[in-house]
Amino acid sequence: MGVKETVKALSVIGIGEIYITGKVKVGGNVKSYPNKRQVLRALFDSYKDCTKCDLHKSRRQVVFGDGNPDSPVVFVGEAPGEEEDIQGKPFVGRAGRYLNEQLKRIGMPRETVYITNVNKCRPPGNRKPNYIEMQACLPYLRKELSIINPKVICCLGATAAEGILGKKIQITKMRGQLFPYPYNPSVKVFLTFHPAFILRNLNAEGEFIEDLIKLKEIVKGGL
Ligand code: URA
Repeated sequence: MGVKETVKALSVIGIGEIYITGKVKVGGNVKSYPNKRQVLRALFDSYKDCTKCDLHKSRRQVVFGDGNPDSPVVFVGEAPGEEEDIQGKPFVGRAGRYLNEQLKRIGMPRETVYITNVNKCRPPGNRKPNYIEMQACLPYLRKELSIINPKVICCLGATAAEGILGKKIQITKMRGQLFPYPYNPSVKVFLTFHPAFILRNLNAEGEFIEDLIKLKEIVKGGL
């Protein structure tokens, strides 16, 4: 199948947008496209001065995703907190350090995966982003995800899951389960708790670690 036919066929199964990155064979010739890092950088440059919602008024900077763009798993959180707003990187505060610790513990260190958020700007006082703010920012996340094209998107908490799946989520009931990603059904969405929730509810730590181990198995193709 040629590139045009492939894109048409993908649109029939619900994949509306694909990014061609790196070296690709087209009709017997190898064509070089920008790699994922370069395409992600161009995406970031396109919205680093975004003013689509009110969060731009109080942010220090837009916090883009971080990590390995070739990772088969992308972790998606809610929105940057104060430390992230200062450093310009997702999950570098207390919840991020805890997440790093657990990722290392299960043998999937942070530097091997990609981490991002639904909202790229810090909501004042670390409140939950509202519906309008989420809708304004989601197109950036969708583009980011279609560039990376992971095997699994792991939503950290209900807000991330609601942004990705576009429906109401009861995280305690739906955690540890897989759902199809609405914008590309061949990508799976896995739900677990937000690490900040675990820091406030240490009795759920066992379930969180259980989910991360299950996620690792799914990524390896074992489940
Ligand atoms: N919480 C999030 O959801 N994202 C971050 O980047 C930091 C804390």
